[in-house]
Amino acid sequence: MDSKKIREKYIKFFVGKAHKQIAPARLVPENDPTTLFTSSGMQPLVPYLLGQEHPEGKRLVNSQPCFRAEDIDEVGDNRHTTFFEMLGNWSLGDYFKKEQLPWIWEFLTKELGLPKEKLYVSVLEGDKESYEIWKSLRVKEDHIFFYGVDKNWWSRSGPPEKMPEGEIGGPDSEVFYDFGGEDCHPNCACGRFLEIGNSVFIQYQKTDGKLKELPQKNVDFGGGLERLIAAVNNNPDVFQTDLYIPIIRNIEQITNKKYDGNKSEMQVIADHMKAATSLIIDGIMPSNKLQGYVLRRLLRRAAVKMRQLGGDLIKLSKLADQNEEVIKEEMERFSKTLDKGLKEIEKIEKIDGKAAFDLYQTFGFPYEVTEELFREKGQEINKEQFKTEFEKHQQLSRTASSGMFKGGLADHSEVVIKYHTATHLLHQALRDVLGSQVFQKGSNITAERLRFDFSYERKMTDSEIKQVEELVNQKIKDDLKVEHMIVSLDEAKQMHAIGLFDEKYAEKVSIYGIGPQSKGRYYSLEFCGGPHVEHTGVIGQIEITKEEAVSFGIRRIYAKIAL
Ligand code: ALA
Repeated sequence: MDSKKIREKYIKFFVGKAHKQIAPARLVPENDPTTLFTSSGMQPLVPYLLGQEHPEGKRLVNSQPCFRAEDIDEVGDNRHTTFFEMLGNWSLGDYFKKEQLPWIWEFLTKELGLPKEKLYVSVLEGDKESYEIWKSLRVKEDHIFFYGVDKNWWSRSGPPEKMPEGEIGGPDSEVFYDFGGEDCHPNCACGRFLEIGNSVFIQYQKTDGKLKELPQKNVDFGGGLERLIAAVNNNPDVFQTDLYIPIIRNIEQITNKKYDGNKSEMQVIADHMKAATSLIIDGIMPSNKLQGYVLRRLLRRAAVKMRQLGGDLIKLSKLADQNEEVIKEEMERFSKTLDKGLKEIEKIEKIDGKAAFDLYQTFGFPYEVTEELFREKGQEINKEQFKTEFEKHQQLSRTASSGMFKGGLADHSEVVIKYHTATHLLHQALRDVLGSQVFQKGSNITAERLRFDFSYERKMTDSEIKQVEELVNQKIKDDLKVEHMIVSLDEAKQMHAIGLFDEKYAEKVSIYGIGPQSKGRYYSLEFCGGPHVEHTGVIGQIEITKEEAVSFGIRRIYAKIAL
């Protein structure tokens, strides 16, 4: 059974249980400042897990490409990847534990034919209901394990005490596949057990520092496709599944080396190049900021591993299905930096942990590369010192990302919702003033400002900027009603809804109209998942603070809500 077959079986299985298949979201979320990447299937569904009506109903299924930047340093063994495909099914306040657990069991044992003896499950301490369900499915007592919230609780930020205000989560029950080995337990990292599926019972939201019951009880299941194939193959190495074999073969060819004996380097190259290609396809370019910086780190780490294997960095571009040029250019630039870094190393008398960290920061040299180069010179580096520097740096980036979380749509903070509605007004006002060739190209909202990218061929004049600003403020003063509608795709098109619309196969779509006007026309009508304010009057006045070029034919506006 290959990946295609498993994906098909999973979707079919849940469609057979009255689920609607929904399109996957982009890897880089639009209109969601809370996070840089889509890192699990539930992420685009947060508004619906919170209670908003989903256009496709209460039972959903899909396969979602995911990227987890925080796992970059873990890659280099047989199971960790930053990029993966998550098979997911959801109940939005519909079925719960007693349907979900038997269904997953049926899928794993009947559809995929995994031997029951090799499957182990874990349950949150105190979750008797899940335990009884597993027992009723004849899972043996010694195959059921209880753990605390550190293992059997899921939210995007971890256990309850780590959940920021507004975040949702709940207890979970995981299934593990046993590849055999030393006496151990499922949640140990020794490699014997591999988690292949997680049913999360999302029923809480962090509110005023405490867990509060959501108005509905949800199911959020996620199973890594790569790991499911590994289990089906009874081979724990995900890089030896059909999803990675072609890229590993290519790497072998480019480096003239074998996977056996060079596994860790090839695993890093394979994962990072796959992730990088997907990010580039989603519109990210290597840069020193946000998603672009993560992309750059992926490419550099792959490049250094390539150099260690004696391969030509430029040839990494051959591993990309598309966008070879972007990778080639980045590699040409980096190979110069890499050469400079290597010369710099030659000059340094004694390399301490701090210098190693500087090399990492400046030239993108991972610690182990610097260490190896000095071992050749007979030097020992103080790894502890490097680690201290590194942790300081990590702390900073963590603080930055938790800050992002707080300001975001996921916690539905009032100010972010205001900015979101203001963005719709801005989009329409730009079309009114500059013409209907103006079209949204991107949007990013924080608690401090909105940023809106749109297609337009030249710099806006001061008077045009003023006109747009006044128009938006007029629409706010008019206190227009904001209306949420779920209509068929055809209806939405007939109504001339604008905006980014990805879900090619959706029957029903979610749109927001602002200010019902004469003959049922809205001032603004866009494809959007929300949320929005109910009346524009609550937004307050906005001020356009900057207008600039992003790239050829694309302009960017920053605006603030005036206090
Ligand atoms: N959202 C859950 C996870 O990522 C299913 O594990």
